Formats: sequence, C-alpha cells, structure tokens
Amino acid sequence: MDDLDKIQEKALKDIEKAADEGALKSLKIEYLGRKGRLTKILRELKNIAAGERVSIGEKANLLRQKLEENFSKKEKLLKARTKKTVLSEEKIDITLPGKKMLVGHLHPLTKIRNEAEEIFTAFGFAIAEGPEMETEHYNFDALNIPADHPARQMQDTFWIKNPKTKEKFLLRTHTSPVQIRYMEYHQPPIRIIAPGRVFRYEATDATHETQFYQLEGLMVDKKTNLANLKAIIKIFLREFFGGKNIEIRFRPSYFPFVKPGVEVDMKFNGKWMEIAGAGMVHPKVLEGVKLDSRVYQGFAFGVGLDRIAMMKYKIPDVRFFYANDIRFLKQF
Ligand code: FA5
Repeated sequence: MDDLDKIQEKALKDIEKAADEGALKSLKIEYLGRKGRLTKILRELKNIAAGERVSIGEKANLLRQKLEENFSKKEKLLKARTKKTVLSEEKIDITLPGKKMLVGHLHPLTKIRNEAEEIFTAFGFAIAEGPEMETEHYNFDALNIPADHPARQMQDTFWIKNPKTKEKFLLRTHTSPVQIRYMEYHQPPIRIIAPGRVFRYEATDATHETQFYQLEGLMVDKKTNLANLKAIIKIFLREFFGGKNIEIRFRPSYFPFVKPGVEVDMKFNGKWMEIAGAGMVHPKVLEGVKLDSRVYQGFAFGVGLDRIAMMKYKIPDVRFFYANDIRFLKQF
C-alpha cells in the first residue's frame, strides 16, 4: 500500500514536469509499460495473501486509471502547445513584397544574327558554318590571296602555330573561307549565308573591334548577276530595318576574290558608314573549287553584323558590345 502511495506521488509530479511529448512517452513506459513500476505490482498480486490482495488490487487499479487519465490530459496539452509553436514559427507573411527574379536574355549581337538568319532563310538561303580557327589555304590562298599578295596586309592576322608539328593556323579574318568550304561539297544552285565571329589584329576604335561578326552571303547559279546582288542586299536591309527606306550606296572597291568588287555604305547619323564588302565571285575562285566559270557565276557579300547592329540600336561605339557592362546589356 505504501509503495502505491509513493508511486502515485512521484508519477503525478513527473507527469506535471514532463516538458515535451517525447519525455511524456518515456514516463508512460516507466510507469505503465509492460515492465513498468505499477505493472510490476499488479503482477505480484498473486503472491500476496488473499485478504490483502483485494484491497491492494483495487487501489492499484484505481491508480492505474488515474495515471492513464493524467497521461492523456498532459498529452493533449503538449500536442496543443506544439501545434501553436509550429503555427507561429512557420508563419508566412503573404503581405511581404516578392523577390525580383533576374532572367537572362540574348546578347544584342545574337539577336541581330537571329534576325538576319530569319530574313535570309525566308528567301531560301541555307545556313552554313565554318571553323573560327582556319588554315591559310581557306582564309587566303583559295580566295585568290597568295602569300606575296599585298591584299594580305588588308586584314591583319592572328597567327597560331602548333609548337610540336609547326603547323600554322590563323583566326579567320573574315567569313569568306566558308564560301570555299561550302562550294567544295555542293553543286550549284547555291544559296547560303554564313554568319560567324571573325578576328583582326588591329587597333580598335568606335567602328573597329579585334573580334566582330560578319554574315557572308553566297549565291551561285547559271544566271546570277550584280543586279541580283544589289536587290538582295537592298531587300535584306529594308527587312532588317523594319521596312524603313534605307539610304545605301555601292562604291567600286577591290577584293581579290571578286570581280568586280564593291563596298556598301549606309547613311547613319548623317554620315556614310561602310557595312559590307561584295562582288561577283572571281572566276579563279570558282575554278579553284572545280566549277566551270563559263557556265556559272556567283555573287558574294560580307556584311559587318556589328555595324548594322550599331545602326539599328543607335550605338555610337562597337566596343560596347564586348565590354560586358551589364548596364549596357540590360537595355536589349
Ligand atoms: C571582308 O572581310 C570581305 N571578306 C567581304 C567580302 C565578302 C567582300 C564577299 C566580297 C565578297 P572587309 O574587310 O571590308 O571585307 O569587311 C567586311 C565588313 O566587316 C566591313 O564592311 C565592316 O562592316 C565589317 N568590319 C570590318 N572590319 C571590322 C572591324 N574591325 N570591326 C567591326 N566591323 C568590321
């Protein structure tokens, strides 16, 4: 009987003190579990004299009931408390302003290139590509610019040498080598554009960068002529500048791989700006890729994509495109 009193006193205090659901659970096992203190007493009843057994058994069972009630009351209390803290700690203030998601976008020159590709593919031009690291053969010789030709000095070149094999490469100075690469593997009629990055070892200024983009055009067939070239360039520029009447002029010029050769200027801020070189593909170039120049003629052009991008977006200096200044790039 004394043991039962002690257990009651201690158990009620312990339940009172239990700080969380975990502690309460272990207490419950301690008192009421299979090997719990109260359970032990109930099990030992059979060893007690019959007279005492009834009264002790009764008291023990009442205590068991009492403890169970106290445990479940405390359990409810602790559960409610947990819920309350979870709700207050994990509260989301939906009135706070959101965080701005920073989304990237295409570089203005990529946009320009995509637009130009769309216009030309609508005319039936295919898109060709060539390597940025070229051989002397494709960049110069096959384009009728032999080593001793003064025209080599027109395009200052970044040379690359393989120190082991001594093989000489260069960073292409224009997209014209793609003409050769394409004609080697395709028969006329040919109608391609070849956009890409080119490199020149020269001082920079507002209209010159050491790397820039060109878009090469090439059309070869039996009756291709200079008037077709003019028309294509005019239509392209009209589309590119949103249907506006564009003032352009063709100036006679010299490139070893065309004959005759022209340069195309466009009016920008009241001044003429050169945007392309062009002309009829030189018979020597055609013969070099085994096309009969008495049967086929072609025209070719190389537009400076940076230059027309400058005019479209009214950018006064080509170097902005490559300066990686986020304040500039964000505007497109
Ligand atoms: C050429 O590169 C010739 N391959 C173009 C050509 C193709 C002629 C087919 C005939 C037939 P040129 O060096 O002029 O030509 O360059 C062509 C265009 O690239 C120029 O009109 C100009 O718009 C642009 N350009 C040239 N140099 C630079 C530079 N440093 N920075 C930015 N744009 C440039």
